[in-house]
Amino acid sequence: MSIVKPSLIAALFLMLACNSTKKEVSADKISGLQTSKVLQSNVVKLKEVVKTLSDADSFPRNIKKDKTDWDFVGVEDWCSGFWPGVLWYAYEASNDPEMKAEAMRFTAPLKTIAYSSARNHDIGFMVYCSYGNGYRLTGNEAYKDVLLSAADTLATLYSPKVGTILSWPSQMHKFKYNTIIDNMMNLELLFWAAKNGGDTSLHDIAVSHAQQTMEHIVRKDSAVYHVGSFDEDTGEFLKGYTHQGYADESMWARGQGWGVYGFAVAYRETGDKAFLETSKKLADHFLNRLPKDGIPYWDFDDPNIPEAPKDASAAAVVACGLFELVNLVEDKELKAKYFKAAKDLVSTLSSSEYLSGDKNQALLLHSTGHYPKNSEIDVPIVYADYYYMEALLRLKNLEKLNSETDKVVAN
Ligand code: GLY
Repeated sequence: MSIVKPSLIAALFLMLACNSTKKEVSADKISGLQTSKVLQSNVVKLKEVVKTLSDADSFPRNIKKDKTDWDFVGVEDWCSGFWPGVLWYAYEASNDPEMKAEAMRFTAPLKTIAYSSARNHDIGFMVYCSYGNGYRLTGNEAYKDVLLSAADTLATLYSPKVGTILSWPSQMHKFKYNTIIDNMMNLELLFWAAKNGGDTSLHDIAVSHAQQTMEHIVRKDSAVYHVGSFDEDTGEFLKGYTHQGYADESMWARGQGWGVYGFAVAYRETGDKAFLETSKKLADHFLNRLPKDGIPYWDFDDPNIPEAPKDASAAAVVACGLFELVNLVEDKELKAKYFKAAKDLVSTLSSSEYLSGDKNQALLLHSTGHYPKNSEIDVPIVYADYYYMEALLRLKNLEKLNSETDKVVAN
């Protein structure tokens, strides 16, 4: 049963009316005031939902088919940091002290991840989305300590022989020493720590990881493998695999998104143009292959397309990566191209086809988690909401910059 009051939903829909009535929403349907309104309505919904969650050790992860309320996971699940992250973004969008208190409440239990031995690379997702946003928005020194410890813990998975972080110690039987494209997203924690009192070797680890990923996991066809398998004694690259995609050589949508965003951040932190070119290459390939409604299928090469499920989470991740690229590329036309593409993604996600409205407790519908395992197919998933909120905030900030300056990017 949905806990969101019908009267509230009616009000939200009035606010969203302009961009929520069409299946396909063009970029110019969401701009300026509209971005703020969508953010505002998302905050109202999140505030209602969070009030119903009494147990801060349980974190929303997905909403099962035909259900309206979140299903929860514990602190050790790879998705645990996204819910506090969503709440931090809601606080950033609203400046509402109640949202801050809720974000703090759900952030606190994740501390243990930073001080336990590393189970996998997901420490970055778990701690940076929660404590990272918390520290960015509050400057709370206690959060900084947790972040620095989390970075040291993540770095224990680094192999100097391979030059990467071991992503999944539990999957060695299947993939040998493995490094996955998702792991690119967790380098930001290491870059941050090296600049904020952590050991400078954390920066070097992140750079080496990004270089090895660029060399072996980014493919010549401008897509990425999900998993790279290496010889842990010699460091030799053995083979690329998929785990969550359709096939080893297919283009798993979210994996491509982790690559776009991860390499953009690697360039931002190093100035190494090869990382920028890689991010651009992955972004261009993603955009060139997008279906007509602008939201990717879960895997671009699923032979069941157009019946295959979509993945809104991949769209949200790529939108954030593209907004990052807008800040990084110098060429004005390219800036405008990536801004429009990101804005198109956000606009479509904000249409009635993808926005949950009063259907359930999440913000977005239609994400796909692990299709080959028949898990989380075409359902709301918390990381879609996280990157969607981030994308909306990034869009709002760029639009503000545009209105204050002589147009940073064409609108
Ligand atoms: N393995 C993390 C993801 O589903 O993207």
